Amino acid sequence: MKDRAVLKALSVWKSYGGVLVLRDISLSVGEGEIVEVKGRSGVGKTTLLRILGLLEEPDRGDVWVLGRRASSMSMEERAEMRLRHIGVDLQPVTLIPTLTVLENIELPMALAGIGRGERRRRALELLEYFNLGSLASRKPGTLSMGERRRISIIRALANNPEVLLVDEPTANLDEDNAALVVELLREACRDREISVVATTVEELGIPGSITYRLEKGALIPVNH
Ligand SMILES: Nc1ncnc2c1ncn2[C@@H]1O[C@H](COP(=O)(O)OP(=O)(O)OP(=O)(O)O)[C@@H](O)[C@H]1O
Ligand SMILES: [Mg+2]
Repeated sequence: MKDRAVLKALSVWKSYGGVLVLRDISLSVGEGEIVEVKGRSGVGKTTLLRILGLLEEPDRGDVWVLGRRASSMSMEERAEMRLRHIGVDLQPVTLIPTLTVLENIELPMALAGIGRGERRRRALELLEYFNLGSLASRKPGTLSMGERRRISIIRALANNPEVLLVDEPTANLDEDNAALVVELLREACRDREISVVATTVEELGIPGSITYRLEKGALIPVNH
């Protein structure tokens, strides 16, 4: 498996209690690519993201992250992959309410063993990069839904992952907030060279993105 795919799924199958959710899904995400997976509620979008993010194992098939096969990794290796290489942002947003925005973003860095001063500096830098420095000392409960979502995505970027998996990033947001989230994803991709897989119900319309439709367990290319 020596191509430039950052993340790859090969013939992934998944069912729950005899109900087939994913049927022979293959997907390859290249460096700096934005992939949108569009599909109706209950079609398996979150399931696919959880499998790509090594949070769940497929029944058949395999996932490759940075050229490494998920099924050959130990639990610890998978956790390490999630901490350092795959940023996952699922719904609902799970910011820790007792910590400030800055401390929430520092948390994955702390888990990765980055010292106090260094992680504070990097968390602030990230916030300022996305023009959210003014929220640093706020608690999540005081943020708007759109702000929460953006902070949650930034937290997933804390350890500079190669790939970001984000589940319905614009769900429950008005047009303006949705546009801000899309802009954040674009910037992450363009400036930080992060690959993104985003699920959506309505197309995000990120320029240059590669879109698939998930339907009846199959992944169908839309614009390519
Ligand atoms: N742990 C589980 N146990 C049993 N069934 C599950 C489990 N996880 C998901 N499912 C089922 O698999 C199907 C796909 O669920 P999934 O959450 O992936 O859909 P989705 O596309 O993300 O939907 P939504 O847009 O509503 O978030 C659903 O029918 C769901 O009930
Ligand atoms: Mg879902």
